[in-house]
Amino acid sequence: MSKNITAIYPGTFDPITLGHIDIIHRAANIFEKVVVTLAVNTSKKPLFNVEERLEMIHDAIDKFENVSVAHFDGLLVDFAREQKSLVIIRGLRAISDFEYEFQMALMNKKLAREISTVFLMPNEKYTYLNSTIVKSVAKFHGNIDNFVTKFVADQLHNKFNGERS
Ligand code: COA
Repeated sequence: MSKNITAIYPGTFDPITLGHIDIIHRAANIFEKVVVTLAVNTSKKPLFNVEERLEMIHDAIDKFENVSVAHFDGLLVDFAREQKSLVIIRGLRAISDFEYEFQMALMNKKLAREISTVFLMPNEKYTYLNSTIVKSVAKFHGNIDNFVTKFVADQLHNKFNGERS
């Protein structure tokens, strides 16, 4: 474990998936503290509001002792500095992620030289997964039990179909 290093793991988490949790698990084994950070991607219109997404993240990270959750709606590097965090964690699933991630990592480096982006690869069984696909499968009543926690599956079901009986 990297002593005294706090890492932040930012994302939209709309909703958090098993792929995100896989990355959180890996990061929690490497860094002393991990702060899962609900941040704002200005080009996205989330299905779930901030409170709903935070609740789903809280439920998912309950089992990790050194992981906490925060919400921030400014510049990511400002939040990292506020947390005294030198590391931003990002998941890299496929080559298609690379260009966007590379651009963000370089921009964050320009904005804050002391902060580094660390990329972690999730288990290959999650490389095809993203939140949009999960929402789309849920909307058309497909089975999402292998992609999200039970709590998230219930929230998605409630959004699209009303309460689960
Ligand atoms: N498993 C499954 N899916 C994963 C995943 C994993 N391990 N890692 C990423 N994804 C998916 C997400 O579900 C998401 O899917 P979607 O696009 O269908 O919703 C997609 O990959 C990427 O989303 P996410 O990781 O949540 O990142 P993002 O691109 O939405 O978030 C921010 C980007 C919020 C980190 C970025 O906009 C930011 O830093 N905002 C703050 C403002 C700022 O500082 N801007 C300047 C940045 S240079």
